[in-house]
Amino acid sequence: MFRWKENPFTFSIIPSLFVGYEEQQRDILASIESGSKFSMITGPTGSGKTTMLRFLETKAGGTIVKYLPKPPRNAEDWIEVFRDIAKPRVGLFGGGLNIYNLPERVNKRLGKDSRCCIFIDECHEATQESLEWMRTLTDQMNNLSIIMAGLPVFEEKMKSSLETLLRRIGSRIALSNLTRFEVREMIKRRIEHHGGDDIKPFTPEALDYVYERTAGFPRDVIGLCNGLVLKAIERNISTIDTDFIEATQSAPPKAAADRIRELPRKQLSILDVLAEGDMTPKEVAQKLTAGEYKTRITAIRAVNNLLKRLMDEGLVERKSLGRSYKYGPSFLAKTLMVKA
Ligand SMILES: Nc1ncnc2c1ncn2[C@@H]1O[C@H](COP(=O)(O)OP(=O)(O)O)[C@@H](O)[C@H]1O
Ligand SMILES: [Mg+2]
Repeated sequence: MFRWKENPFTFSIIPSLFVGYEEQQRDILASIESGSKFSMITGPTGSGKTTMLRFLETKAGGTIVKYLPKPPRNAEDWIEVFRDIAKPRVGLFGGGLNIYNLPERVNKRLGKDSRCCIFIDECHEATQESLEWMRTLTDQMNNLSIIMAGLPVFEEKMKSSLETLLRRIGSRIALSNLTRFEVREMIKRRIEHHGGDDIKPFTPEALDYVYERTAGFPRDVIGLCNGLVLKAIERNISTIDTDFIEATQSAPPKAAADRIRELPRKQLSILDVLAEGDMTPKEVAQKLTAGEYKTRITAIRAVNNLLKRLMDEGLVERKSLGRSYKYGPSFLAKTLMVKA
């Protein structure tokens, strides 16, 4: 309907669509440029760390660059990171590569002029051992810059365990939110990249709403836009304006879903049992965990009470079966149980 080649609002990482965080970008690039050994990017999940690393990777010109989605775990992993750089020209340096001869070989191959930038994601997962190797290796290698990204806990972790490494960090930046203008720019670039036109189908007011609802947090911006676009497609609406948003965002089903999640444990276990098929209270009582009630009679009485409460909530329906009744989940309960 919007003549897009693909949905622009997915969480895939497209470095060329990176916007904003300009001061932070300049900080990091200047720090790499000036030869500092470490830089650190922190931010919560969805703030744009991975996107920023992949974007910086394309900016660090004239250097050997590498992106590691996870930190190396131990010495062997670190050797693998540098193996292709340290690889001897035919005939030179015999003998295998190990963690002790690695820095010298990398230095020889890099020479005086070329630099090597390693971008490491998810650094909060790094072991103490790995970080210590990182410090040792960068101490002994010339022209090496490591740019680490991780959750904010990473910085805390370093404070308590590797103060020496933390002190050597040239640039330390935090990612959080984009500005109103950057949010618009981000949405526009995504739409145009996927074959659309400017901010269509959104109106400027709709983008204001997106900014206000998400405070410019990148992952939330994408999630909200995706939800709105899907609803528009579903209803065959070609303009997402504030009227459309108002009509779709008031979502009672969510409140109902919460109601199921907050149900007392006993009522919830009855719904679970009923998911197998309609049953009489006696059958439900038999299915419930043995030992839950003292006698069969008290069990059936309790089940009857719980079923009545669930009926009041509209979650259970009763079907007449001659002289007895069978109970089953209502349509509402069935839909909610799938989502919950
Ligand atoms: N500055 C930005 N410009 C454009 N898109 C961004 C930006 N920051 C984040 N995004 C988008 O938001 C989503 C989450 O970003 P991501 O880099 O995966 O965050 P993190 O690695 O911090 O969890 C991705 O789809 C990404 O493309
Ligand atoms: Mg990430």
